[in-house]
Amino acid sequence: MRKIMIVGNWKMHLNVQQSSLLVKRLSERIKTHRNIEIVLAPSMLSLQPLSLEIDRRKFRLAAQNAYFVDEGAFTGEISFAMMHELVDYVIIGHSERRRYFHEDLETICSKMAAAIRNNISPILCIGETKHERENHETKRVLHDQLTTAISNLTSAEIEQLVVAYEPVWAISSGNNFTQHEAASPDEVQEIVAYIRGVITELYGAKAAESVQILYGGSSNAENTYGYLSVPGIDGLLPGGASLNYEEFSGMVATAERLQHERQKS
Ligand code: PGA
Repeated sequence: MRKIMIVGNWKMHLNVQQSSLLVKRLSERIKTHRNIEIVLAPSMLSLQPLSLEIDRRKFRLAAQNAYFVDEGAFTGEISFAMMHELVDYVIIGHSERRRYFHEDLETICSKMAAAIRNNISPILCIGETKHERENHETKRVLHDQLTTAISNLTSAEIEQLVVAYEPVWAISSGNNFTQHEAASPDEVQEIVAYIRGVITELYGAKAAESVQILYGGSSNAENTYGYLSVPGIDGLLPGGASLNYEEFSGMVATAERLQHERQKS
């Protein structure tokens, strides 16, 4: 049975103390699960203390970003090489990084290579803007973002890949829990099949089957069941909902229920 992945992207929220408190609250509510991978992506500053605090049977850590050169005169940057003992995953290509920090396809491609080189599994975010969607450019945009990011990976490396489909128009922009319209499960099903199809064309069916594909964009405890029931979706990447321990542990509880149902059938 494939694992379900729930990745909480805390973005630029929570200081070190608040991060510890959230982990404590989540630990009290979340049990260890063999078939569910729960990943927390706190701020860079909280990664080190949390790496000492978390129960690794329950949680994995992800960085939200890193620089693609391993070491050098790059004031203010932190490399993948510096964090490979702390994290199992790194989020690459999030739309907020593309938009506010002008990360282009080439930069994202270099970051993918740096993550793989340092043994950190990339969670590659791809997604179309509202404007692109309205102009029926969704598949072209996803194709460009996906193929350029993975173009230098071997088929063995592709098996470590996680792709998150995050339509930009569905990502909440509020500081806390203000949500946008989420994509419908039917829309997501079509796109996820498209993404797996593109990977199949490039790397073959076996590699494509091992890639985890997540949905992100206003996911929460209430819509988790609907998304996770969509064939081809292996998990979710909540932002706002991951800052609220009841919402996030509710999402994990729903994933657990679904895995039980799958085991029985
Ligand atoms: P959201 O964020 O769940 O708050 O919409 C998702 C993301 O940006 O990864």
